[in-house]
Amino acid sequence: MARNGVLVPGIFIMAFLMGPQESWAIKEDHVIIQAEFYLTPDQSVPPEVTVLSNTPVELGEPNTLICFIDKFSPPVINVTWLRNGNPVTKGVSMSVFLPREDHLFRKFHYLPFLPSANDVYDCKVEHRGLEEPLLKHWDMDCSSISFLL
Ligand SMILES: *[C@@H]1O[C@H](CO)[C@@H](O)[C@H](O)[C@H]1NC(C)=O
Repeated sequence: MARNGVLVPGIFIMAFLMGPQESWAIKEDHVIIQAEFYLTPDQSVPPEVTVLSNTPVELGEPNTLICFIDKFSPPVINVTWLRNGNPVTKGVSMSVFLPREDHLFRKFHYLPFLPSANDVYDCKVEHRGLEEPLLKHWDMDCSSISFLL
């Protein structure tokens, strides 16, 4: 799918193109980065959360909402999609924790949906660095704005 092509991180494409030995080294690096963060549990950096649609939204045209969770550490979060305030699990998917060059992490969660004027959505993110769960809202009215970002 085109969506995966855009969002699969370079590191995994690299790992795919190289032999198993080199790709193991990259995986090992990744584990070490994560381990370092588990060893310093006092430092937590809360995420920045953005919700946008995969393509411009048209009523009745199937689309996918993307919850982009960025610049956080440690790599431990709970993410829930809400439709009109109710948790949705059908069809949802997510990326792994992706290391950033600044040693923080980013992650993507996806929700396939059928745009309707009556439905509003939230991506709810829980992280130790947040005092309370962060709800990032999305509805038809803000869909045009997210495309300018
Ligand atoms: C994630 O949810 C579990 C179960 O509700 C909870 O115990 C845990 O503290 C949550 N984690 C974060 C980072 O909020």
